[in-house]
Amino acid sequence: MSVIEYTTPSFDLSEEVLLLRDAVREIGEREILPTAAKRDHDHAFPAEIMKKLAEAELMGMLIPEAYGGTAIGNLALSVVLEEINYFDASVGVTLSVHNSLCASPISRFGSHDQKSRYLPRLAKGELLGAYALTEPDAGSDSANLRLKAEKRSDRWVLNGTKIWITSGDRAGLMVVFARTDSAAPKAKGISAFIVETGWKGFKVGKVEEKCGLRSSSTVEIHCEDLEVPDENLLGELNGGFKVAMDTLDGGRIGIASQSLGIHRACLDASIKYAKERQQFGQPIAEFQAIQWKIADMATDLDAARMLTHRAAVMRDRAVPCSREAAMAKSFASRACNRAADEAVQIHGGAGYTKDFPVERFFRDARITEIYEGVTDIQRLVIARSLLK
Ligand code: CAA
Repeated sequence: MSVIEYTTPSFDLSEEVLLLRDAVREIGEREILPTAAKRDHDHAFPAEIMKKLAEAELMGMLIPEAYGGTAIGNLALSVVLEEINYFDASVGVTLSVHNSLCASPISRFGSHDQKSRYLPRLAKGELLGAYALTEPDAGSDSANLRLKAEKRSDRWVLNGTKIWITSGDRAGLMVVFARTDSAAPKAKGISAFIVETGWKGFKVGKVEEKCGLRSSSTVEIHCEDLEVPDENLLGELNGGFKVAMDTLDGGRIGIASQSLGIHRACLDASIKYAKERQQFGQPIAEFQAIQWKIADMATDLDAARMLTHRAAVMRDRAVPCSREAAMAKSFASRACNRAADEAVQIHGGAGYTKDFPVERFFRDARITEIYEGVTDIQRLVIARSLLK
């Protein structure tokens, strides 16, 4: 018998999700697309757009209704993220991190008190969420993290640095992973904390200037004697690595969905350009070399979407999906980068300029293979699950 079962849950989109998709598409066309290129140029954070997304109830998609969310789930979130990223991947990552890396772990691991205090505000968009795992010496090897949390009576005192934190200077709330037992083996001495960024000792450091996703913010965070009350320990003491990894299973479905959105934008732009652009007396769409590129881009997109929706449905059904999320992310992100590369190629010199959006898609696509676990880490997760 094969070690890998044939897992194909049905993932037809419900009427509710289709209506949501259409509504989000309308928001994207009206509110996001017209200013996307300018925001990218100006490195301008999409604060106003995030408010609109909150009004559209997109900030609490993984939050239970009892705590103010819609609890519509990971499949719906994937569909929404594909739409948003189609228009602007900077807005897309901000929304994805908020839902899947901050609201989700609090919903899944938080106490009733933590959920009551924070989830309604996250759902309303009063607080933007972030997730702080990575450190200078803990990138792919996240269990090597050093940011220290020391217990002093009824509170924890955090000291150390986090890097590459999406929305770190905009967020009101952050799930921060810290070492609470230095004697324990790497992953066994880590705990998760819910940190309000307004607390004393929370400092924003270097603001990264990035190749793509230029209107999302990515910053360094310093915790300098940052005091966190004991009641903000998220999950079990020294059980934080599992919180981090479980959260990333969901986050990776989000980044796979982001890849779908950028990919589809590349495909649509390429089809449009290929029909308009004339060379050798005919639209370049008439040439087989262009047709094959378009055909491969479309086939890859469908395959990537099926993998992504499968992982999302499994997560919604509480079926373990680390492998499937890793498959979705590694396949969708690489397919997206191939599509972005081909989209620029189809546009020729025009695609290398700011006159056409594929230049932005090309820059934005690159990160999908890097954050929330580089492609080789996804392959490691897949391979370990097969070889154990
Ligand atoms: N769910 C629950 N628990 C999990 C898990 C999961 N998906 N994966 C692993 N664990 C548990 C294991 O079962 C193990 O527990 P036990 O010892 O009790 O069995 C424990 O966690 C340690 O697991 P590993 O031995 O597999 O740990 P490792 O040190 O070998 O690391 C890794 C595994 C897959 C390489 C992991 O470190 C990893 O995913 N690295 C990449 C980090 C990453 O994705 N960073 C992204 C940063 S966030 C970001 O980019 C956000 C942003 O702002 C956009």
